[in-house]
Amino acid sequence: MPASSQSNFLYGAAVRTPALITDHPYQELVARYCDLVVPEGELKWASIQAKRGVFNFDKADAVVDFAKRHGIGVRGHTLAWYAALPAWTKDMASRQEAERVLEQHIRTVVGRYAGTIRSWDVVNEPFPDDPRSSHDLRKSVWLEQIGREYIPLAFRIAHETDPAARLFINEYDIAFAGSRFKSKRDALLGLVRELVNNKVPIHGVGIQAHINADRQIDSVGLQEFLHAISSLGLEVIVTELDVIDFSLPADIQLRDALVAAKAYEFLDVVCGVAAPPAVLTWGITDKYTWVPIYFTRADKLPNRPLPFDRNMRPKPLYSVIEYFRYRGRR
Ligand code: G3I
Repeated sequence: MPASSQSNFLYGAAVRTPALITDHPYQELVARYCDLVVPEGELKWASIQAKRGVFNFDKADAVVDFAKRHGIGVRGHTLAWYAALPAWTKDMASRQEAERVLEQHIRTVVGRYAGTIRSWDVVNEPFPDDPRSSHDLRKSVWLEQIGREYIPLAFRIAHETDPAARLFINEYDIAFAGSRFKSKRDALLGLVRELVNNKVPIHGVGIQAHINADRQIDSVGLQEFLHAISSLGLEVIVTELDVIDFSLPADIQLRDALVAAKAYEFLDVVCGVAAPPAVLTWGITDKYTWVPIYFTRADKLPNRPLPFDRNMRPKPLYSVIEYFRYRGRR
């Protein structure tokens, strides 16, 4: 996933069907601005294998077809996660069965898109909030049935299936100040070190970056973390950037400026240390964002976490991304 020769990194966004099929201005926006897209939900287990053993790629294919038509790259999200699982996965009754199911799913999905999806979030959000150590993994059917070996297993199967794909572990709450966020960084770094030491085929770390505007960025802590990841020879990419404006002032100009300033603070550290080959926002327009699912504003005004507004007009957040994308190049 090299950045183009004219920019410091590729810019991309999470996209969703059916908007990608039905919303013309949205299609134009994605086609015009994105080097990369990642399906927001279409490659999750619940979408791909809602019924055990029956794989449905219609929605994921719609995203991939759109990307191909417009010469846009595709990232894959995600192969081993605790959430967005179909109910039947709770019926798995043994380690052997769970390994078989995980293996079949990864082989089928990664195999289908080999050569097209060149980068995968293999393991997503392996840690709970405030983990005690790198061994304190988040509860999931995978952990329950397979134990922590589900993580190297998922990477190994993905690598065997498509040896050219870049494989990432993806986590949130990496950038903030405070002991529970330091715990997350430490735990993730410990796990990544262990995977590298054990020669597990992992190529990088995805920093989700759902930045809650209330929280302080721990610049030093984040720098140390990024240096440590880079010194292991791994890439860092920003996978899910948005700024949660839950408690920011109502005034739109002020709010957009504060959102942009927060992202600037974060990207300044990341781009200064890690030279990420890609930065993706989790959505591209405020029209389609997950944020109100959890962070509806008390004043009921629509959230504005993304680089373009509901009418597909660029916001200050987009200027910040552009600034880092072309810094030193123009
Ligand atoms: O499909 C129904 C739709 O028919 C209905 O109209 C709508 C009404 O609310 O609900 C739709 O499904 C929701 C879907 O988002 C719509 O996009 C699901 O209930 C909801 O659970 C789903 O949430 C997604 C969430 O992951 C769980 O899979 C969010 O869109 C998606 O943005 C979010 O993404 C996660 C990343 O995968 C991992 N990192 C955090 C990030 C944000 O939470």
